Amino acid sequence: MAVVVTDENVARTPWPRAVEEALAAGAVEIVGRSVLEPGEAAKRPSAVERLWAEWTRAGAGRETLVVAVGGGVVTDVAGFAAATHLRGVEWAAVPTTVLGMADAAVGGKTGVNTPEGKNLAGAIHHPVAVLADPDCVSTLPDDVHADGWAEVVKAGVIGDASLLEALEREADAVRGRRLDVVEGLLAASVAVKADVVAADDRERGRREILNFGHTVAHALEHVTRHAVSHGRAVAVGMVAEARVASRLGRLDPESPARIADVCAALRIPSSLPPGIRPAEIVAATAVDKKRRRGVLRLALPVALGRHDDEPGVEVDESELEAALGA
Ligand SMILES: NC(=O)c1ccc[n+]([C@@H]2O[C@H](COP(=O)([O-])OP(=O)(O)OC[C@H]3O[C@@H](n4cnc5c(N)ncnc54)[C@H](O)[C@@H]3O)[C@@H](O)[C@H]2O)c1
Ligand SMILES: [Zn+2]
Repeated sequence: MAVVVTDENVARTPWPRAVEEALAAGAVEIVGRSVLEPGEAAKRPSAVERLWAEWTRAGAGRETLVVAVGGGVVTDVAGFAAATHLRGVEWAAVPTTVLGMADAAVGGKTGVNTPEGKNLAGAIHHPVAVLADPDCVSTLPDDVHADGWAEVVKAGVIGDASLLEALEREADAVRGRRLDVVEGLLAASVAVKADVVAADDRERGRREILNFGHTVAHALEHVTRHAVSHGRAVAVGMVAEARVASRLGRLDPESPARIADVCAALRIPSSLPPGIRPAEIVAATAVDKKRRRGVLRLALPVALGRHDDEPGVEVDESELEAALGA
């Protein structure tokens, strides 16, 4: 038995039907279908309550598989509901966005936002399977598509120089959604995240590198009340944090411009939006969960495509302010 979860936008694409046909071919009976409202606002506790109720009414028991078909919002909500329904049922992720395939569906983090903040309730609950079909990018709106590639750039910068080179070379093909190209790049991106996540039990702290670009990104999202999309915020954050790394002598001086150029080629702006002052961003980093003992901490690579076992670096606020103003 299986229950399928998607959102209203994804429900209009061919992908949920394709998943249902695959389940039917495997003689898996679908006993429930839930359609969440689209967007970040749906990532709230009441959505989880609704899934618990719908699954219980559908007769979903401990052996029922939850299948989440959608972007990061759907996989985060459905994965968290699966982690908690009857104290935990198995789930499978079918990510349908670039961000979902490259990032959200890998690593087992699930959860929702609370009125107090983003991702404040959640669980680590690994899906039994992640089925990513790069064809899904063909139905994405342009802005959602472009945005997701920021995380692929991040994967290249932190862990795979050849992925970064391929993005530079193939930016036109990515924008044109050439599937043969997209597939290889997404696979390389997943490999970087999977490697970091898998290694972390042995090398504590290495997972922090996944936060590269995100200290600034979260601050920018906070300051603009999420008017700036996550991918754009990550692009701004990667360039600014790379500049800090260069100023500290950790990264060579050409690297920040190279990151900015590849983002530009992928149509992701990486400069601070007009009207936002560097000092505001620095002040907003104080709320970052990664900030320890009140000290600003950035996760920085040591070269393009490489990080070490201790990526977390304590940084003077003035360094970041200067980097954001550069
Ligand atoms: N769990 C993790 O490790 C992790 C990592 C990164 C991000 N996230 C979370 O992921 C969320 C963002 O994910 P997202 O960017 O995928 O956003 P999303 O799920 O909101 O999807 C973006 C938009 O695209 C639509 N959509 C999705 N797939 C489509 C398709 N194939 N065709 C047409 N439209 C489609 C959605 O309905 C939505 O309107 C955030 O809440 C973030 O916190 C989680
Ligand atoms: Zn991110």
